[in-house]
Amino acid sequence: MKYRLECVDAGSEYCPCYLAETNNCITCSHLQGKQFCDCEWRGTCIYQEYVNNGYQKTYQREDIPVQVEKRESIGSNCMMLKIKVSKTLARQLKEPGAYVFLRGTDLPHYFDVPMSIMEADDSNGYIYISYQTLGAKTKKLDEDRSEFLLRGPYWNGLYGLKSLKKVSEDNCLVIARGIAQAPAILVIKKLIKNRNKVIFVVDKGVVGEIFIEDLIDGLDIRIIEEDVQSENGKFLIKNILRNEDIGLVYSGGSDVLHASVINMIDQVGVNPNIVITNNNEICCGEGICGGCTIRLSNGVRAKTCKTQLEARKVIERRVFDD
Ligand code: FES
Repeated sequence: MKYRLECVDAGSEYCPCYLAETNNCITCSHLQGKQFCDCEWRGTCIYQEYVNNGYQKTYQREDIPVQVEKRESIGSNCMMLKIKVSKTLARQLKEPGAYVFLRGTDLPHYFDVPMSIMEADDSNGYIYISYQTLGAKTKKLDEDRSEFLLRGPYWNGLYGLKSLKKVSEDNCLVIARGIAQAPAILVIKKLIKNRNKVIFVVDKGVVGEIFIEDLIDGLDIRIIEEDVQSENGKFLIKNILRNEDIGLVYSGGSDVLHASVINMIDQVGVNPNIVITNNNEICCGEGICGGCTIRLSNGVRAKTCKTQLEARKVIERRVFDD
């Protein structure tokens, strides 16, 4: 059976995009140059939108200058930024998996670095971002600038968004390690909003600090601090999976952590929905450059900056097959 790919932007104000103009649409078979329709109706016909728009893409995301209101060093080699944006953009970014591209105003576009949103304040128009300084792009972000160029919103920072948005009145296990504490905040808030019970296992990781303490303080969740890669941590997670009737597991961290969490789920023999952070290298975020492409075990190639994929399919390919 053909494996249909779902574009995270399908039906959004940024669809149709350049991929429609070049017959490379991720979802619509007509906009892949085929003579038939084999999409799964999602409430919006991308082809019809394309026709209505005069056979061209709609408005696309552009760089906008933004002010850095606060810069704070957190943990080992990490930084937190508070950035002023419009209330509309803050609202668009207040979703699990949201991210933006940032670069210094004096730098060329190839310094664009994707950054997960840690928190968005849509009443006052602020976003909060935490990152670890690792390579050339993040080192350039560290320079004491008061202004950045920002491009966004983007939403494919997580795989399993459909399950995450759908789960309600269930028991959910959220695991986050190191710098991946940051995107866990919007996940936890979404789960609470949908009346789920959340157990949050948080691990300092190499950051060496629980830097989200202020943001989770007062939330109605059970918080456990543990090294999730240790034997104790694995014992704890397996016990939760075995005894708490968990309907959804979120893993925030490296692909090695994701693989370990999936292994534990299989060892315990439970079947929760799985949501994981998207750790692929993302360059353009628009499905154009191909830098994020992976080949799934069935041979299908997927641009992971825009395509929603099953967590198991991604991790099987990236970790178990290596
Ligand atoms: S990051 Fe360029 S195609 Fe996905």
